[in-house]
Amino acid sequence: MTQPPIPDILPLTASVHASCRLAIAGCDLRELIEEFGSPLYVYDELTIRSICREFMAHFTRMYPNSSIEYSSKAFSNPAILQIIEKEGLHLDVVTGGELAVASAARFPMDRVNFHGNNKSRAELVEAVKSGIGRVTIDSFHEISLLNEVAAEAGIVQSALLRLSPSIDPHTHRLTSTGILDSKFGFSIETGAAEDAVQQTMAACNIDLAGLHFHLGSPLFELEPYAEAIDYVCAFAARMRDRHGLEMREFSPGGGMAIGYMRSQPSPLISQYARTIAQSLITACDDHGFDLPKLTVEPGRAIVGRAGVALYTVGGIKRIPGVRTYVSVDGGMGDNIRPALYDSQYEVISVDNPLDEACEKVTIAGKFCESGDLLARDAELPELNPGNIVALPSAGAYCVPMASNYNMQTRPAIVLLSVEGIPRLIRRRESYADLLSTAVFE
Ligand code: LLP
Repeated sequence: MTQPPIPDILPLTASVHASCRLAIAGCDLRELIEEFGSPLYVYDELTIRSICREFMAHFTRMYPNSSIEYSSKAFSNPAILQIIEKEGLHLDVVTGGELAVASAARFPMDRVNFHGNNKSRAELVEAVKSGIGRVTIDSFHEISLLNEVAAEAGIVQSALLRLSPSIDPHTHRLTSTGILDSKFGFSIETGAAEDAVQQTMAACNIDLAGLHFHLGSPLFELEPYAEAIDYVCAFAARMRDRHGLEMREFSPGGGMAIGYMRSQPSPLISQYARTIAQSLITACDDHGFDLPKLTVEPGRAIVGRAGVALYTVGGIKRIPGVRTYVSVDGGMGDNIRPALYDSQYEVISVDNPLDEACEKVTIAGKFCESGDLLARDAELPELNPGNIVALPSAGAYCVPMASNYNMQTRPAIVLLSVEGIPRLIRRRESYADLLSTAVFE
């Protein structure tokens, strides 16, 4: 049961502290729990910045006219958006709420793209008024709604059309989006995409800048990107020939994976960049297009590795010959992913990360559901009540999908600066917060 002590799914600054405990950015994680309470989410600034730079460097090397748009649904917090803004990325939002966070972070609106399959009139009004750079249109209803809203504002809104290329990305059923049977995008296969191109081009207050698709998330394979780029570019060529479409921008969405388990590493950012850039260059060459601006929309890959969830061990239940449950003070309320998608996580003992594993345990949450299990068969050294465990790769889609199930307060979040200084970027909720929306007679 020997495992390498510091797996490379942890943030880049992970190390073993002088205290012999696990540290990130030089901060002893037990000391952080003592200061900020448990459970706690910790984000490493250096990891976020390094990954942003890697994305920029690899994509612009392979395809100079490219931009990286952080998909803020992966984790939307003003402090994080400010880092991402400074790194020169663009941003995608899918609700008025995410737009409000972007605006609170003073993210330049011309670098923001509004996605989502059912934006309301009010959301579109807010977006258009704020001077949003792009709206990615996802339905016929939205073509007319956006055209009206832009006309009322007296502007021509730049937009992309989200297409559904009917390509299976071989990821979890619940996170596959580019297949035919999906609520997202205009299907090329059924002819809806062609109708959408015509209607959008005819809308006087919309400037159709280009085409978008998003296959799903996370994609551990590269081939679906290549296949979809080829298929969508062939569609764009038909639309150019039949309707005069000029594809100035092109986006194959996000979906770049990260490593959750040591046994399943993700492709490198450079491999995603090479596949996407080469497929687009080849397709444009085949169809006689000038190279459009390329935008990729990673969410998970930007923040996933930077975040670690920390929990304190409570009760331990041993069922001889069956299983040992180690209960912690968080669970599905702060990380629904194992219950929803059967997602797997590694678990690391913060107090003795270098000790050899001696047993297989199941890490159970504290919520009143049998399915509230954060990790099955985790190989760990002996754990006792009061020990702290870390779940790596927890930076994306855990906090944003957190709930107050069982009226549990959501954890605090701490950002560790490049200099190793912890800063609270979201305080722990209080019981008063839980009651703040209740209306008493
Ligand atoms: N662009 C579009 C249009 C999207 O719908 C998404 C994700 C992204 C970009 C970013 O995908 P990423 O690079 O983060 O894979 N809650 C799920 C993931 C849902 C993703 C939804 N859309 C999870 O926890 O795995």
